[in-house]
Amino acid sequence: MKVLYNGDFIEKKDAHVDIEDRGYQFGDGVYEVIRVYNGTLFTLKEHTERLFKSAKEIGIHLQSTVSDMEEKLKQLVTENQLTDGGVYIQVTRGVAPRKHQYAESLTPKITAYTFQVKKPVLEQTAGAKALLSEDLRWLRCDIKSLNLLYNVMEKQKASEVGAFEAILVRDGFVTEGTSSNVYAVIDGVIRTHPATNLILNGITRRKLLEVCAQQGCSVDETRMSKEELLRAQEIFISSTTAEVVPIIEIDGQPVGEGVPGEITKRVQQGFQEKIKQESKASISS
Ligand SMILES: Cc1ncc(COP(=O)(O)O)c(C=O)c1O
Repeated sequence: MKVLYNGDFIEKKDAHVDIEDRGYQFGDGVYEVIRVYNGTLFTLKEHTERLFKSAKEIGIHLQSTVSDMEEKLKQLVTENQLTDGGVYIQVTRGVAPRKHQYAESLTPKITAYTFQVKKPVLEQTAGAKALLSEDLRWLRCDIKSLNLLYNVMEKQKASEVGAFEAILVRDGFVTEGTSSNVYAVIDGVIRTHPATNLILNGITRRKLLEVCAQQGCSVDETRMSKEELLRAQEIFISSTTAEVVPIIEIDGQPVGEGVPGEITKRVQQGFQEKIKQESKASISS
């Protein structure tokens, strides 16, 4: 298997991380995860642009352009003959003797590899359980930073009790999941946290909002309280790898009827259609 290693395609076994890489030592970097359907990188431009934006926000200046990066990622998918799976791409600030402050002259390290994705088909169809956790992360959750320690801790807690996701609550309001965005259907309206510094504005979220607009569903990007979430008729989460997963139980209590709701199923279906349309469109272009 080939990986992208600072501009070159090399065998995975030959790719090594320098122990003084700031990504390794400080989590000083940013990343993206992109889904590949039918040999096509889905929403490639949106992910690449978000990667550049995250890098810029933390003061990493990438020399290449968004379109150069897109080409490299397409080439990686071709090299590995990937038809269905994902691409992980990471940018770190570079390598330097360990100290917090850094020189502007460091050369960023860019690596990417492909991976298989196990679609959570059971959860997508039957629904999944979630836990509520306090959101104790920093205040720049809009940056897709490598620092995922709190997300990792809370996801692990959820996983240990058989839950698919931990839904985070900050100051009494629902923000997002540890690796997903969160939506609730309350009196027929889909509520989700606005795209502020308190959440990652998911690429899947952006696509779902397009699907909702096309379907004529009403969406309200106003934050919801934990109590509102617990009274919702339907809840679902979204991410690149999970796509759309209905949440049917929170902290042991059923959501609505305890089965995936009709609006959730409609959004799921609309998203699948979008994947098909956009994957075809970019193959033919
Ligand atoms: C904290 C967080 N929120 C939301 C998402 C969903 O983003 P996307 O739809 O771009 O995968 C992710 C994805 O990893 C995430 O880590």
